[in-house]
Amino acid sequence: MTKVSPSMLSADFSRLGDELVRVEKAGADWAHLDVMDGMFVPNITFGPPVIKAIRGRSRITFDAHLMIQSPERYVDAFADAGCDMVTVHCEAEGDPAEAMDRIRERGMKAGVSLNPETPTSRIEPFLDKADLALVMTVHPGFGGQAFISDCVPKISWISEWAKRKGRRMEISVDGGVNSVTGKTCVEAGATVLVAGSSLFKSADMASQISEWKAYGPSL
Ligand code: DX5
Ligand code: ZN
Repeated sequence: MTKVSPSMLSADFSRLGDELVRVEKAGADWAHLDVMDGMFVPNITFGPPVIKAIRGRSRITFDAHLMIQSPERYVDAFADAGCDMVTVHCEAEGDPAEAMDRIRERGMKAGVSLNPETPTSRIEPFLDKADLALVMTVHPGFGGQAFISDCVPKISWISEWAKRKGRRMEISVDGGVNSVTGKTCVEAGATVLVAGSSLFKSADMASQISEWKAYGPSL
């Protein structure tokens, strides 16, 4: 089944712990945690102390998406906060490859992401050490943007790359995912759907999640 990772960016931040429990009860596989530093992207969200505070509320897999510069500086802090997977951007300043090595050394799964304007040639050198590739289908920074369908071929490219190399890798897609765009992504090879506004706005999050899970086989 396709995995579903609701983006907590669309949750009510004043009750983040309760929202995490709601997402878990709705059947989500992972909880997607969007960390923004106001430098790599124009917005600022939250960091390790907030993640640590909600860790005690649920055992769901914490799928942290770091939209930050020099992510290698913060890997230990995210590990100590209780993250299970940490994704860095291949475009980030500093040393994203070193960050990925450290993520794995700390016993977490390592992910690498690419922005809509970034070609797959930029992400390829990182894929060998990736457990997850996260394809952005909006410009990172804010929830609620429209899906950029030009990015879909990158999902297929990564899926083909993984097959060619005999690699088992989750392929996640993030930005503007709803029932229509999500299905297109799964058909292109995505194994994980990240979604904020469409899931949090839906009248019945649980049935939405179970519908998406049925879209395709996962890893
Ligand atoms: C965007 C974040 C996404 C965002 C998705 O910068 O990485 O995870 O929350 O939100 P929607 O699903 O509303 O596009
Ligand atoms: Zn994200």
